[in-house]
Amino acid sequence: MKYRRCHAVAVLPEEQTVFSLESLISGGDGIEYERRIRIYAAHLDAICTLELPACMLLLESSAEEWAPMPEDPERGALVAHLVELGLLMLDEEPDDSAVESDRHIRNNHWWPLSAIHYRHSRWDGIDSVGEMESNQMLTAQDLVRKLGAPPPEAPSRQPGAVALPRLPDDAVCMLPAQRVTCRNFDRSRALSLSLLAEMLQSVLMAQAVVESGYDARFLKKNVPSGGGLHPLEAYIIARDVEGLAPGIYHYHAVAHELARIAAQPADLDGFSQRLLAGQHWFVNAPVMVVLVCRFERNFWKYRRHVKAYRAVTLDAGHISQAFYTAATERGLGAFVTAAINEVEMEQALALDPMEQGTLAACGFGWRAPVMSMAELDPAQHVWRSAPAA
Ligand SMILES: Cc1cc2nc3c(=O)[nH]c(=O)nc-3n(C[C@H](O)[C@H](O)[C@H](O)COP(=O)(O)O)c2cc1C
Repeated sequence: MKYRRCHAVAVLPEEQTVFSLESLISGGDGIEYERRIRIYAAHLDAICTLELPACMLLLESSAEEWAPMPEDPERGALVAHLVELGLLMLDEEPDDSAVESDRHIRNNHWWPLSAIHYRHSRWDGIDSVGEMESNQMLTAQDLVRKLGAPPPEAPSRQPGAVALPRLPDDAVCMLPAQRVTCRNFDRSRALSLSLLAEMLQSVLMAQAVVESGYDARFLKKNVPSGGGLHPLEAYIIARDVEGLAPGIYHYHAVAHELARIAAQPADLDGFSQRLLAGQHWFVNAPVMVVLVCRFERNFWKYRRHVKAYRAVTLDAGHISQAFYTAATERGLGAFVTAAINEVEMEQALALDPMEQGTLAACGFGWRAPVMSMAELDPAQHVWRSAPAA
C-alpha cells in the first residue's frame, strides 16, 4: 500500500484567546493565547487541527509521487491519522469521496489558494440575520457603537483636481438613478412568464454562437465575461411565475429555455429562506437567479491562474448589475446577495462545489405597495410617497 498528499493544502498557524483562571489568580489579566496548527484543504469541508509531527509529515509528503507506508510504527500511525482525516490518500482507495474530490481539483486546474479560499468561504446552515440580531449589528447606530466610526465615505479631495460639468438629467442618466436594491417584494403579485423570458433574454441569453473554426465555440452575450468564456450557469428558482410550476429550473442560454431539475426541494419556501441565509426581505421575490460557475470552462484557458477566480466573481457582478438595469427598465425591483448558504444549492443539484460552484443569488419581481424593510432611496426615485422605514 502507498500514500501521497492531497493536491491543495494550506497550513495556517492560529492563535486563540482563552480565559485562564490560573493567570487571573497569579495577578495576570486572565487571558492566555492558545496556539494551534490549522489545515485548510481544498477538497475537504472540515478544517483539521494537527500536532507538529503530523504537520511535518504532511508537508514532507509528495502530492504527486506515491510513497511506501513507513516501517517505523510511530510514522505509520501518523500516516494512518492523516489518511483518516483525508489529508493523505492511499492508492488502494480510489473510490473514497475525499480522493474523488481531490481528483476533481487536480483535473480542474484550480490555482491552489483560490481553491482553498472557495471551498472554505462557502456557507452551510448560516442564519446571517439571526447572527446580526444576536450580535446587535443591524442598524448604522449598532455598527458604529460596536465598531467605531467607519473610514470616510470618500477620500479627501485633491488640490488642483479638474472640475467636471454636471449634465442635465436625461432618460439615459435617469434610468441608473432609479436602481434601488429591493427588499420589499409583493408576495401577492406573480411575474408573467413573458417578463421572466424578457429579463433572461436581455441579460443571459446568447446573442450569437461564434465558431472559432477549431473545436471551440464562444458565446456572445449582452454581459462581458473574462476570456469570453461565460462559465456562469443560471438556475432559476421560480416561486411565483404565471404559467410555470414553482421549482428550480436550469436556464439554457443558447436554446433560451428552462429545464426543470429532476429532484425538487419538498418545501421551496424553506429552501429559499435557507439559501438566502435567513434574509427574509428577499424571500418574497417571485424569481431568483442563482449563479453557478462551471469552473472548468474558465480554467480551461486560465490554468492554475492567480486571477481566474477573481475574474469569475467579477462575471457574477456584471450579471447582477445587468439584472438590476433590466429590472429597473421594466419597473421591477431587484437584488443581489453573496450571503448565501451555497451548500443548499449543492445538495439540491447534487454538485461537487469544486466543479460547479455557487457564487451569488440575484432576484427580481414587483415591489410591494408599502416599504417595510429599509431601502436606500434618498432621492425618493422609487418610494415617492412612502414614508421612510
Ligand atoms: C456583492 C453584493 C452583495 C450584496 N449582498 C447583500 C446582502 O447580503 N443583503 C442585502 O440586503 N443587500 C445586499 N446587497 C445590496 C447592498 O446592500 C446595496 O447595494 C447597498 O446597500 C446600496 O444600496 P443600493 O443598491 O440601493 O444602491 C449586496 C450588493 C452587492 C453588490
